[in-house]
Amino acid sequence: MPILFNAAAKQFHLSNGSFSYIIRILENLSIGQVYAGAALRPDGNYSLLDPLPFPGFSNNDKAFTRFEYPVNGNGDFRRPAFTVRFPEGLGEGGEALGSTVIEPRYKSHRIYAGKPELSGMPAAYTEKDDEAETLELELLDAASGLKIILFYTMFTQYNCLARRVRFSNGGNKKISLENAMSLSLDLPDSRWNLITLTGAWAREFDIGDAPLRTGFQGIQSSRGISGAQTNPAVILRRPSATENEGEALGASLIYSGNFIADVEVDQWDIARLRIGINPDGFSWELAEGAIFDTPEAILAWSARGLNGLSQVFHELYRNRLARGAWRDAERPVLLNNWEGTYFNFTEKKILEMAASARDLGAELFVLDDGWFGKRDDDHSSLGDWFPHKEKLPEGVAGLAKKVTALGIKFGLWIEPEMVNPDSDLYRAHPDWAIHIPQRQRTEQRNQYVLDMGRPEIVDHLFKVLSAILESAPISYIKWDMNRFITEPYSIALPPRRQGEFFHRYVLGLYDLYTGLTKAFPEILFESCASGGARFDPGLLGFAPQGWLSDDTDAVERLSIQEGASLIYPLSSMGAHVSAIPNHQTSRLTPLPFRAMVSFFGCLGYELDPTKFSAEEREAVKKQIAFYKAHRRTFQYGRFFRLPSPLRGRSNTNGRFAAWMVISDDGAEAIVGVYKILSNPNQRPFRLKLAGLAGNADYQVTVWEEGGYSEEDKNLNCGGRGGDELMQAGLLLECTGHHSPKNGDFFSELFLLRKQGASK
Ligand code: GLA
Repeated sequence: MPILFNAAAKQFHLSNGSFSYIIRILENLSIGQVYAGAALRPDGNYSLLDPLPFPGFSNNDKAFTRFEYPVNGNGDFRRPAFTVRFPEGLGEGGEALGSTVIEPRYKSHRIYAGKPELSGMPAAYTEKDDEAETLELELLDAASGLKIILFYTMFTQYNCLARRVRFSNGGNKKISLENAMSLSLDLPDSRWNLITLTGAWAREFDIGDAPLRTGFQGIQSSRGISGAQTNPAVILRRPSATENEGEALGASLIYSGNFIADVEVDQWDIARLRIGINPDGFSWELAEGAIFDTPEAILAWSARGLNGLSQVFHELYRNRLARGAWRDAERPVLLNNWEGTYFNFTEKKILEMAASARDLGAELFVLDDGWFGKRDDDHSSLGDWFPHKEKLPEGVAGLAKKVTALGIKFGLWIEPEMVNPDSDLYRAHPDWAIHIPQRQRTEQRNQYVLDMGRPEIVDHLFKVLSAILESAPISYIKWDMNRFITEPYSIALPPRRQGEFFHRYVLGLYDLYTGLTKAFPEILFESCASGGARFDPGLLGFAPQGWLSDDTDAVERLSIQEGASLIYPLSSMGAHVSAIPNHQTSRLTPLPFRAMVSFFGCLGYELDPTKFSAEEREAVKKQIAFYKAHRRTFQYGRFFRLPSPLRGRSNTNGRFAAWMVISDDGAEAIVGVYKILSNPNQRPFRLKLAGLAGNADYQVTVWEEGGYSEEDKNLNCGGRGGDELMQAGLLLECTGHHSPKNGDFFSELFLLRKQGASK
């Protein structure tokens, strides 16, 4: 049973046999955090693990060292999980006007099979009730009537707990919610390293990894979106934990707006981990009877190192966050025209590119920015979602029909949340753009953001976008978002509710996504925000894949894709081969190297295919054919980052990277090895593989169309034991210094086929 309540001990034990999470109703009826980690026996009474009272208070029974959903003002001086203000005071007389102290106490609980829906926001889900159990724990602040309902869902198959909170005003006075974390966890010691994913445009998902220290550490976004600068997740690993061994836990927020994820280490070495909506600038008015739901956070745990932890997130997000027809479907190999033409294209050019892509084996042609209004550069037309007649004389419908007649599907780029000042939409509705009257409107990429918190704007977008989608055979949408939100303010909200602005934006965005994905269930949506500035679990709930970065350089991509893989599955990562010199870095990398990096994700090409030489065309045909033959493994297999002695803290400051993916049934595995920079007289080393069946035999071969080395092939290929491959590994870097394969950017793919497994 995943959730047990021990009435005598007043203890809730949430466990799936591998991960246990234990909380208890304390003497004073507040909830204490008891334990989170490797499974403990279900029937135990773990009161000896209880949090201790904070010493020093002579008559205060309210302050404990570890709380489940802490408040402050009562003797716990750390950052709280939530904060409320009582703008109308308490009781009949409105006493304690404006105060913030609150005394939530256990009221009741419910345990039931399955997982309830979360209205208005994406969340993990179950398909059958036996996949999970849910605990709803209701706390009450008697003086105000505020109810706080903590939701916990323990999954049986995935080593994780979904957590969220509902606030419900059962009193008769307004309450202002000023902070509402989705998850707070007081860990009994601080011997952890904190891992974050940070970056910037074109260099997203840099892995930061540093020991916890006393005080605060963490990340946040106040940009209106999760941001390329910070991804809404934190991981704690034991200092001794590696990719494949040791304890790690991670918290990831299913949300696409302002967030905070932090850890506070106090004077007792207790580490408080929190994740939720960024409280900075946030408030929400709870009138009598009103409720507020936080977004959902996922707390995952593994004893199998960072790979083990990542795999929990990958499996949950792939199977029980992503939805719809594309959740389990193999994703098409696409050709996107952006880096091939930028804004400069004609219908004729697009048709040539589409025909060429089809000949190479691509299945989908994506027309990127520049097809609408009068858009010939990034100065105009966002908001005018009708065809650019000079470029597309027969409109999107005419072009889409011609493309599909060639035998390749058609996809389209949109950026619905935006408006250029130079657009018909802005001229008609200047007040739809987010702004503060009397203040300057900041332009970024020459554009403004529409106030998605206003239902009439969401309705308008739904109508115009539906009209395009209905008018043409469109199978794919790339939904972009190319700026942050400045001058946060909604002219539609009263002054006291301006703190709701950012969250209302996100709810409006989700509303539009919900409408369009329901109305067009066959369309594959890919999210994008100047690359990976909104690559988050919130959008994965609608768009099962996302564009990770505008940086298409294969070396950079090693680092970006690897960073993203800490949380996100390969099926969510758009990965494109682009032309050289690379448009972001000017680097020259060989075509096989570029392809072998993009194979680990959803493969696409982003270039002008008509410019390929005959030799390149043949190579690309073979790449696409190979990828299709192994696509299920690449997109849906179990992914491992393989540590090697040549690796730095992340791949860009190492000289070598290696990845591995194993098919669901274990029958095949593919190992990609990437030498970044060469140095002379390199010592050979063994790369240990992971996740194989130790007692099975595997036939090891190399992908002959790649840039394999004869030496590596001779030294590694043949029948090998799974145990041998994991304990001793492949022998690499054996190319002698006269070998032509000894240069920079040399990659190989090893294929492992389990003996006796059917093909
Ligand atoms: C963003 C995207 C790119 C491309 C351009 C088009 O930068 O990340 O992939 O679509 O917009 O303007």
